[in-house]
Amino acid sequence: MADQQVFVEHGFDGDVHVLRIANPPVNTLRTEVRAGLLAGLQRATREGARAIVLIGTGRGFSAGAEMTEFGKPRKPPSLNEVFEAIEQSKVPVVAAIQGNALGGGLELALACHARVAGKGAVLGLPEVKRGFVPGAGGTQRLPRLIGMEALRLIVSGDPVGPEEAQRLGFVDAVLSGELEHAAMAWARAHSGDRFVLARNRTDRIKDYNAAAFDEAAKKLTARSRGQESPKGCVAAVRAAFTLPFEEGLNVEREQFTTLVQGEQSQALRHIFFGEREAQRVPDLPADAESLPVHKLVVIGGGTMGGGIAMSAANFGLPVTIVETTEEALQKGLARCEANWQRTVKSGRLSEADYAKRRALLSGTTDFEKAVGEADLVIEAVFENMAVKKEVFARLDKAARPGIVLASNTSTLSIDEIASATKRPELVIGMHFFSPANVMRLLENVRGAKTSAAAIATATEVGKRIGKLPVLVGNCDGFVGNRMTGKRGPQLEKLLLEGCLPQDIDRVMEGYGMAMGPLATGDLAGLDIGAAVRKARGTVAPIADAVVAAGRLGQKTSKGWYDYDAERRRSPSKEVEAIILDVAEKMQVRRRKIEDQEILERLLLPMVNEGARILEEGVAYRPIDIDVIFANGFGWPAFRGGPMFWADRMGLRTVRDKLAHYAATTGDANMQPAALIETLAASGGSFATMKGAAKG
Ligand code: NAI
Repeated sequence: MADQQVFVEHGFDGDVHVLRIANPPVNTLRTEVRAGLLAGLQRATREGARAIVLIGTGRGFSAGAEMTEFGKPRKPPSLNEVFEAIEQSKVPVVAAIQGNALGGGLELALACHARVAGKGAVLGLPEVKRGFVPGAGGTQRLPRLIGMEALRLIVSGDPVGPEEAQRLGFVDAVLSGELEHAAMAWARAHSGDRFVLARNRTDRIKDYNAAAFDEAAKKLTARSRGQESPKGCVAAVRAAFTLPFEEGLNVEREQFTTLVQGEQSQALRHIFFGEREAQRVPDLPADAESLPVHKLVVIGGGTMGGGIAMSAANFGLPVTIVETTEEALQKGLARCEANWQRTVKSGRLSEADYAKRRALLSGTTDFEKAVGEADLVIEAVFENMAVKKEVFARLDKAARPGIVLASNTSTLSIDEIASATKRPELVIGMHFFSPANVMRLLENVRGAKTSAAAIATATEVGKRIGKLPVLVGNCDGFVGNRMTGKRGPQLEKLLLEGCLPQDIDRVMEGYGMAMGPLATGDLAGLDIGAAVRKARGTVAPIADAVVAAGRLGQKTSKGWYDYDAERRRSPSKEVEAIILDVAEKMQVRRRKIEDQEILERLLLPMVNEGARILEEGVAYRPIDIDVIFANGFGWPAFRGGPMFWADRMGLRTVRDKLAHYAATTGDANMQPAALIETLAASGGSFATMKGAAKG
């Protein structure tokens, strides 16, 4: 019989005991760990320990609660029972933090008498990002240790490093060298100290000022739109400043319990797990290895090429931009520099780090030489098939055999691009989103011949440069753009039938979108959509008239909106006149359109196209689509993505509404997809549909 797994190892060096959390890979605090800690504390006390060190095995301290245990009856002991045992200990319990101490992991550390951290530790309470509040005393102990700064940490959910944690006051020492050894020495040296537990500290909360607190809370929650968890965090942290510890814990618990059961938290966890799930490609051999990449070459230093190169340099990957002329090259490099300088000015990048990044970026017009030295090439030249094929034929000759050639095309066929080379198995799409140095999403596009090694390489490099790669199939627009493209006809119809641009954007931004679709159009440039319509031979009377009036978006200071010098938008009288004029000419009687109808008419065509994408196997799973939207299209993660939204509505209702709008608006995009018909007929959902559409 196999040995039973030990979740908490017990060790000692003389009378300093150590409890090592051993629940790989990230040491979540599952039931067995909680029980193990309790037993370990009891044993150390029994055996006369002078100090007790808590540490994690492997790379981290603890990533927190076991989220799969959420929503199920909790088995004892609870975290709070463990914390009480720590707090009642007569000898100091010292948390030794290496790697991640997140969520419940950090809360465990906060309950200890002292905390020491190794270099590179990451300490944070990210619960707000999963839609709830820290639920094991974090909102009560952290403010007692560091005062008002706790509000910022808890509402943002952003982690800090050990030095900052020490500066703020919740880490007592940053130790170098092997942490367990160093922490035990520290605990021994400090075993006689009088530690005041976080719960008993009052010095950092006694100067509470309600007005200052409200002001800070307002600033911190300003960007969270309709999201509930930041507000819950504010309420819980306020309780730390205004109520006794135990009562504060009750406020925290109420917030936690309500929020964790809510739809927003379910949506956020859906995206959180989805981002991991999306990394698993069902038919990829487990041993598919990525090719070594030490040097990236980007062809084209325009909007996208520059952003891609910056991402590489930001994450330590040497990169060379290849341009056609010295002038274009200098312009491209200057744009990268200006972008970085803006970050330096805002205080988010130090001069030293800027210098490091800049040194990793170089440029040349010598195509053959640069490509000959590349381990991976990403092409970002003009969106034109003839140009792309010419570039790929040249790449194939100049690049070492065996290296991957990727294209950042946003619409063109990867197979056709690959056909210009003798290595189609090493050609793949790496579709970044603008601004490429900021947006996290990376749609990796698999062609018919793309090999497992090419996929593994694009995935690995994508992750390495801070992106979230999602593998998709080859089709016009891939997943994200193909789906958003399908709402175009409804946008036009809504404007025609009764909406103004500001009505539509208000509804979509009210739903939580970072930016409404018309404001987004203005940002990208309305000439782009016009060119696509022209190429496809379609018309959009209102959009076409807006472009014809010279309103191309922000770049001309007018598009769907008027823009002032600060690029602030305001409703446009001219656009309203254009809309009314077109409606009159087309003899459409305008009416008031309810917000819900606006929302449905813009989201349902996307969901429907998502279903078709699943039928075709262009996306492997519904969750992949949701992850794409939450990371590349400003879709609020707390809404869970389009497919999650549809599931909440219920696919029978979705089918009925699609059929209704297809009939009333004559939009073929709204004809319910076969997959929706099938799932609706069987009472199924996207979440429960079996497996991937494509093997
Ligand atoms: P851009 O026009 O800003 O940049 C293209 C650059 O490529 C220019 O600087 C040009 O001088 C250079 N170039 C052209 N031929 C070249 C060659 N043979 N060798 C080296 N350099 C060459 O275009 P942008 O917006 O950066 O788009 C590039 C690609 O990225 C296109 O395929 C586009 O569809 C795709 N894309 C664009 C997005 C966007 O929002 N702009 C988003 C995602 C993908």
